[in-house]
Amino acid sequence: MEEGKAKSSHVLVLPYPIQGHINPLLQFADGLASKGVKASLVVPLRIHGDILHKVDTSSLATIPLEYISDGYDDGVPLTFDPGAYDISLQRVGSQTLGELIARLAVDGLQPVCLIYDSILQWALDIAHAHGILGVAFLTQSYAVSSMCSLYHRCALVAQAEPDACFSLPGMPPLSLQDLPKFIAQPKADRFLLDLLLGQFKNIDKADYVLLNSFDCLETGVIEGMAEPWSPKMIGPALPSLYLDSRNTRATKTGDEQGKLVNCLGWVDERPDGSVVYVSFGSLAALTVEQMEEIGGALRSIKWPFLWVVRPPYAYEQGRNSLPDGFLDATSEQGLVVPWCPQLEVLAHRAIGCFVSHCGWNSTLEAISQGVPMVAVPQWSDQPTNAKFISDVWKMGIRVEVDEKEVVRSGELERCIREVMDGETGAELRENGQRWKKLARAAVADGGSSDNNIKEFVAMVSRC
Ligand code: UDX
Repeated sequence: MEEGKAKSSHVLVLPYPIQGHINPLLQFADGLASKGVKASLVVPLRIHGDILHKVDTSSLATIPLEYISDGYDDGVPLTFDPGAYDISLQRVGSQTLGELIARLAVDGLQPVCLIYDSILQWALDIAHAHGILGVAFLTQSYAVSSMCSLYHRCALVAQAEPDACFSLPGMPPLSLQDLPKFIAQPKADRFLLDLLLGQFKNIDKADYVLLNSFDCLETGVIEGMAEPWSPKMIGPALPSLYLDSRNTRATKTGDEQGKLVNCLGWVDERPDGSVVYVSFGSLAALTVEQMEEIGGALRSIKWPFLWVVRPPYAYEQGRNSLPDGFLDATSEQGLVVPWCPQLEVLAHRAIGCFVSHCGWNSTLEAISQGVPMVAVPQWSDQPTNAKFISDVWKMGIRVEVDEKEVVRSGELERCIREVMDGETGAELRENGQRWKKLARAAVADGGSSDNNIKEFVAMVSRC
């Protein structure tokens, strides 16, 4: 058998059902399929046709879907409660996942392993109860994962003075603002803290641990922290199309995809490196005040901008709303869309900088396309990602926020100018090109992530 090829093993891949977790696990599944593994993506019934239409469609064409229930088959209530959702997902999801594995065995499609999103730690017990391997997949950086693991072991205490400095092996000196938000302010986001620390409850019992990053991006942290659960780095988990060449356009079909291509048509008409791309990912919901400040900054710059403003969910009333008159005032200068094919946008020659919330996927995507960033972290792991983007990888500038944690328009404008026009910008672009090459080398044949994936495939094929 060709090295790293497995012909008959069936693996199930179970993401937490939100965009920022489905994307990397789907891409990893796609990578396994390209190495001969039969990989199926397991999702709750409810999200079919909702989140999935926003992911890379070429991957969905090769990866079959299998369904479990999260207990919300008829949709989530208007008063969505993430804590209640998580309890239901665990209770109903465990049961229906077990039923799915049993049914597949009867159908002659017995899976040999379950690759589960590490925040769904309960899935490990289900895998073991059915006699198959349980493989944890971490969707955050090694640095953030290590911090969570330390905090879980009570070895990192963040109840500190506002000007405290945290010194962790292999990491730059960290202030409270650089720690993941749920660690810096544990009482403010108890749900997220419990969810993310939960990953480390049983990680030592997982048969294998995978992490969506690549070795040379986090060498210092890997050596400094040397986690006992020693993950294999397999990232960046992105469609191979975007790791091979810039400016390649994926083929899309259907009305929805038609709209997305129109957005790219608009980008096509802009000069090289001229567009400021602004997006805060799939979850962040910005206050009216913050939206006005961002709008103010975009109106005052000379560059064209593409701003993704995700429509708020019913329970996010008043959030993510555009400043009054913004669209009319900027119709010549910018385009506002509810969603865009982000990787295609970042890979476009016209994009000059990425104003980002620094979600881990967005960070890896910017790195893989070498696009310099203006870091405007909002919550979760984003402050730590922003710290590494600015101080370690030197691919971006982090904005200063005021005491209300709002970035003012003058400050955002200053940072955009610096990246687009300033001396620092040239340096950031150069560093971006270096990281882009290294990211691609990691997943190219014989690269560090590629070797780890091949080793994993060989392990699975022996089952
Ligand atoms: C969340 C967390 O916020 C993030 O910090 C964590 O690491 C993963 O889960 P999210 O906030 O959505 O995810 O951010 P991010 O990790 O960047 O994932 C967003 C994904 O949606 C990216 O893959 C991005 O390419 C995609 N996206 C976003 C689009 O395709 N189009 C858009 O318009 C916006």
